[in-house]
Amino acid sequence: MRIILGVGGGIAAYKSASLLRLFKEAGHHVTVIPTDAAEKFVGRATWEALSGNPVSNSVFDDVESVNHVRLGQEADLVVVCPATADLLARAAAGLAGDLLTNTLLVATAPVVFVPAMHTEMWMHPATVANVATLRSRGSTVMDPAVGRLTGKDTGPGRLPEPADIYDFITGGLADGTLQQRPTAVPGSAAPGTSVPGTATLDPGPLAGKRVLITAGGTREPLDPVRFLGNRSSGKQGMALARAAAAAGAEVELIAAHIEVAIPDGIKSSSVETALDLREATLEAAARSDVVIMAAAVADFRPAEVTDSKIKKRDDAADPVITLVRNPDILVEVVQQRGTDGTPLIVGFAAETGDDRGNVLDYALSKLERKGCDLLVLNRVGRDLVFGQDDTEITVLARSGAEPQSHRGSKDSAAATVIRRIVAELSG
Ligand code: CTP
Repeated sequence: MRIILGVGGGIAAYKSASLLRLFKEAGHHVTVIPTDAAEKFVGRATWEALSGNPVSNSVFDDVESVNHVRLGQEADLVVVCPATADLLARAAAGLAGDLLTNTLLVATAPVVFVPAMHTEMWMHPATVANVATLRSRGSTVMDPAVGRLTGKDTGPGRLPEPADIYDFITGGLADGTLQQRPTAVPGSAAPGTSVPGTATLDPGPLAGKRVLITAGGTREPLDPVRFLGNRSSGKQGMALARAAAAAGAEVELIAAHIEVAIPDGIKSSSVETALDLREATLEAAARSDVVIMAAAVADFRPAEVTDSKIKKRDDAADPVITLVRNPDILVEVVQQRGTDGTPLIVGFAAETGDDRGNVLDYALSKLERKGCDLLVLNRVGRDLVFGQDDTEITVLARSGAEPQSHRGSKDSAAATVIRRIVAELSG
């Protein structure tokens, strides 16, 4: 594939070198077009050495080959990383003052902008409008990561990790969510496409869909001060909530015990026990198009919950805790589902494997047993998955679609799951 890697003038430009390496290692032909400002951060020699191709940012170099048009025409993919606020504004306005913006105007291949800037700039109405304009014209603008920025501040605006950008792009190309730019003529746009120059927001592939997500770990009380719990932090559930909202869904979150903040703008409620979660989930599932059971639900609860604290006593035997089974909420959501197959139901399988079976065998039989449409298999262990930022998942589908594996951040794993849901919903 012929890839144009446009590099904007931000400190994150150095991370683009890793993205370039990933493209090269996968065997792609990459031409780097830095802006003038980008060359103040990373020198041209770096781009030439890593890409194995000459680098220019001027429309007046290599004039005889009509470079400013040829590069865009020949591209199979254009990635702008990092996309600064200035570059997004210039692209949205259709300016053509340098080689990169000329190429963006010519290319009809999928275009992906990977923004990186300070939170204030990302949230500024001008940038918000520019992003909406670019999306309405068929470009893909990745949401920036949330985290440490240059200087002391943290927030949304950080460049996602190169491996996550790479996964996002290859996943999007594989499932068709990164598309060719529509070559619309003003006034004659096909239904569902936008006329260039209008700033209608791309509603996203889950627009109009209600997505219910359960997250975190339930706590089963023993007495007023003690409970049986698990290691779930809720990170994966929050990442799914963000990814579903970014895809345009109306998200409802039911949170058991979580250690992370609930994203702004997400409707949520809190529960403590598996029985509380069951009641809230069955009620909300009835009005949802998609249910994602990411919560770690306790399979057992203490048979007896004492009203007062259990005391140790020298004159009596140590207590023995008897457990009883909790209902399987996922199975009940499947049983409650309508004959039209709504909602689409996604279960999770946290597996360690043991001497009686490996993780995939256990997950496949769980998919069968629980009757859900998709099952996200997580390999778990004391230092694997729970509370960690990275994860390794395999998405199994009842529809017979090929299992899809992904290793990376919980945000990129969530994007993989949401893309699979979009594909299932569209048949
Ligand atoms: N789940 C549920 N209700 C339960 C237990 C689990 O709805 N009482 C859901 C989880 O939210 C998850 C899926 O079922 O989506 C798998 O949970 P897991 O605990 O991994 O599976 P189990 O059914 O407990 O199977 P096993 O005992 O083999 O681990």
